Amino acid sequence: MTQIGRFVPILLMFFWVFGCQSSKLLTEKAGPLAQYGMVVSASPLASEIGKNILQQGGNAIDAAVAVQFALAVAYPRAGNIGGGGFAVIRDSTGKVSTLDFRERASRKAKPDMYLDKDGNIIPRLSLEGHLASGVPGSVAGMVALHESGGLLPWAQVLQPAIDLAREGFQLTTIQAGIFNRFQDIFMEVNGHEIPFYKKGGWKASDRIQLPDLANTLERISYDKNKGFYAGRTAELLVREMESGGGLIDYLDLENYRAEWRQPIKMEYDKYTIYSMPPPSSGGVVLAQILEALKEYPLSQYKHNSPDYVHLLTEIEKRAYADRATYLGDPDFEEVPTDMLYSKAYVQERMKDINLTHPSPSTSIKEGMVDVIESVETTHFSVVDRWNNAVAITTTINSYFGSKTWVDGAGFFLNNEMDDFSAKPGIPNQFGLIGNEINGIEPQKRMLSSMTPTIIEHKGKLYMVVGSPGGSTIITSVLQTILNCVEFDMTMQQAVDAKRFHHQWLPDVIICEDDTFSEEDKNELIRRGFTIQERGQIGMVDAILIWPNNQLEGGADRHRGDSTAEGY
Ligand code: DON
Repeated sequence: MTQIGRFVPILLMFFWVFGCQSSKLLTEKAGPLAQYGMVVSASPLASEIGKNILQQGGNAIDAAVAVQFALAVAYPRAGNIGGGGFAVIRDSTGKVSTLDFRERASRKAKPDMYLDKDGNIIPRLSLEGHLASGVPGSVAGMVALHESGGLLPWAQVLQPAIDLAREGFQLTTIQAGIFNRFQDIFMEVNGHEIPFYKKGGWKASDRIQLPDLANTLERISYDKNKGFYAGRTAELLVREMESGGGLIDYLDLENYRAEWRQPIKMEYDKYTIYSMPPPSSGGVVLAQILEALKEYPLSQYKHNSPDYVHLLTEIEKRAYADRATYLGDPDFEEVPTDMLYSKAYVQERMKDINLTHPSPSTSIKEGMVDVIESVETTHFSVVDRWNNAVAITTTINSYFGSKTWVDGAGFFLNNEMDDFSAKPGIPNQFGLIGNEINGIEPQKRMLSSMTPTIIEHKGKLYMVVGSPGGSTIITSVLQTILNCVEFDMTMQQAVDAKRFHHQWLPDVIICEDDTFSEEDKNELIRRGFTIQERGQIGMVDAILIWPNNQLEGGADRHRGDSTAEGY
């Protein structure tokens, strides 16, 4: 044996001990790990249903469809059949597609429908009641998604949600609290009791059964799109609209189509990021920010330090300013999608960033895009044993949407019309400023911030991620990605980490309580930033695929009831 040869067993022992120690350390910081499949959603019941579908031989598409319908039952503040959303899908061969099932304005919608005779916004008209709803897209989206590659029969995938609605489910403490907050407005908007109204209020473990919703889901189970956009469900929906002065009619329902779109694809170091194109702003803004960040040695920054916050904030201001001017429904407007995150444009756009002095938002205008190329929400993530992956963000916009309950059909309608710019320059409920490009037009889709995202590392599935949170969705997804990619966090750590956000206007950094130490906060204020603390930002439910192929679920357990279920 050579001198070196004698040391080999000792070295192997050292690496074995060290390796075990570090993987043990890693495991302690990680979320639930699984070998074959993982579902992470905002509802323990929906995550369990998704996992069961995977165990029955379903793939990620089957599980995602089952989870979407289960959330419509067990997570009614955002889960829905009366709303819409976006899906990013990566199959086991690496093919990525994106599906747009965003709501559309009714054919009868008008640009000034939320303005009074003097041209001023009529408060709350785009937010509450029958006029606030766009034509729902979720059912068409799920049908299109399932037909694109589901393995199990449609009816089998819907059955768990039907059972859940018929047999009922128990409220969590958080749910009971949220239902109680909305009791008065449920009555005010609907003028009668709905199943989520309870005299004396709700408490944890109370049970809710939704027989009308079970019947509607059964119609969808038998007849797919026709079970929702025609027949009895359509009749109930149109009757509801007519009773409250809403616009959606039979033809609006019949005309609704989900659309397959080209994903936003961008390279960041050895990672390829796929996200949602317009009519969501999510993918474009995320890609623009990441493109800008490539210029900086981010991993050398301290996580959430003043320098890090300063840098991200200055980039975010510019990206959100562009969002307001250049993004809208590509079926109606010329949207310079590719240009907005191209290297040349981003370098020019970000070149006035000063890392000592912030630029006040009033001094920031949209960038010079002179070549127009032709060109309460919930998120869940699913990966199956073949490494097919689905990221879906879906919404009825505010908590319980417009609060309009489709009587007899058992579901809330969205208030997605508020995501249009009802008047240029006037902020919507998320403080987002919009322009003509996102103005109301018949059958147009309103601009979104939803950012379902799938990431590859050197060509291999790496992460499935997304979040609710209106305008904060994009920055929540961004920070979660950076936490893993630049700061070596596990999925769980990345999800748990405190978040901050800037959206150009208003000119303030919002952050979760205790995101910054007193010292860091003072330093940011000294530099000229305004900081506003708020309870929570986003609710990220994500999956990380480890190099050894284990699936790590990162459920946002401290910000809600999110749960990761794997097997
Ligand atoms: O599409 C959008 O950007 C918004 N309607 C999302 C709403 C939302 O995330 C509310 N959730 N917290």
